[in-house]
Amino acid sequence: MVKVNSCVFISGNGSNLKNLIIRSRNYNFPINISLVISNKTDAYGLNYAKKYAIPLVVINTKSRNYEYQILNLLKKYKISLICLAGYMKIISKSFLRNFRNKVINIHPSLLPKFKGLNTYSRIIKNKEKKTGCTVHYVDEKLDNGNIIVKKIFFINPKDDEKTLKKKTQTLEYKTFPEAIIRIYRKN
Ligand code: GRF
Repeated sequence: MVKVNSCVFISGNGSNLKNLIIRSRNYNFPINISLVISNKTDAYGLNYAKKYAIPLVVINTKSRNYEYQILNLLKKYKISLICLAGYMKIISKSFLRNFRNKVINIHPSLLPKFKGLNTYSRIIKNKEKKTGCTVHYVDEKLDNGNIIVKKIFFINPKDDEKTLKKKTQTLEYKTFPEAIIRIYRKN
């Protein structure tokens, strides 16, 4: 199988990155992780890139033309899918124009509910009965593009932010790879 070259953008722990790297080692998974980009020097997830010998670049997002630098890297590595996995920067409209329907993101709620930050605390505060995670295409609005896969679970009244995060992330490790498989499934 000819695999698509992809790049994962991170800012933090990188547990989804680790999961995607492991899944991508399977010969029939549709993508390779060819590059990891972080906007934080101290992102723990960079350790996974090192461990699995994947090229990694930390981009200083304070520099004026940082997206241009990223675009050059993506070209160099022939990237045709970008997976945002806990990447905490907004991607500009002009960047997206270069990668239309090629940037996907995972969000820890049932979109369109609970877009944005502090998702778990808002879900608990709102006394939601169910929650989950969503993988969607990225457009110019926050957590807004077309949904690829959404998975649900029921919240236990005893759940707090910590347990909710754990359950949501466990579900994310199934959902992100499934979304990628769906994108490349030949009908
Ligand atoms: C994930 O839970 C994802 O939903 C959100 O950021 C978190 C990143 O976690 N966008 P990790 O860095 O993959 O561990």
